Amino acid sequence: MREEFVSNCEKDTISFAKSLSKSLTPGSVISLFGDLGVGKTHFVKGIAEGLEYRGDVTSPTFNIVNEYLGGKLNIYHFDMYRITGWDDLYSTGYFEYIENGGVVITEWSENIEGALPADTIKVTITRIDDTKRKIVVER
Ligand SMILES: Nc1ncnc2c1ncn2[C@@H]1O[C@H](COP(=O)(O)OP(=O)(O)O)[C@@H](O)[C@H]1O
Ligand SMILES: [Mg+2]
Repeated sequence: MREEFVSNCEKDTISFAKSLSKSLTPGSVISLFGDLGVGKTHFVKGIAEGLEYRGDVTSPTFNIVNEYLGGKLNIYHFDMYRITGWDDLYSTGYFEYIENGGVVITEWSENIEGALPADTIKVTITRIDDTKRKIVVER
């Protein structure tokens, strides 16, 4: 299934992600594709809001994974920007996180494409202009 959405502002991206969060189940993996500044982290904010997580959502640039616990499902938010091989990926705990019943969301999924489960929800965000984004969801 392929779904396309045009977001006109940051809030649109958040509410689109929020609606997508309704279809998530334990073990879901969402992979985000797109350049720096397209809105990947804002998309994760929407997922977190939709799952009723109350805390802050920030880019896990330095720690590679942020855990958002206590919502309807636990969320594990990865930044794969600096992951360059299988050893790196194993050491982040990525595979264990997928098995433990939460939702795994990855930014810079380009770097781990070979390690995405077959039923991964792929979200590609592209910049149209300063405030508009095209969001394509494939699952
Ligand atoms: N339609 C939009 N959707 C999401 N972010 C947008 C949109 N329009 C402008 N922005 C801005 O783009 C930036 C996206 O930042 P961020 O979510 O951190 O991107 P990424 O994680 O992809 O690097 C923010 O400054 C946000 O305000
Ligand atoms: Mg980001």
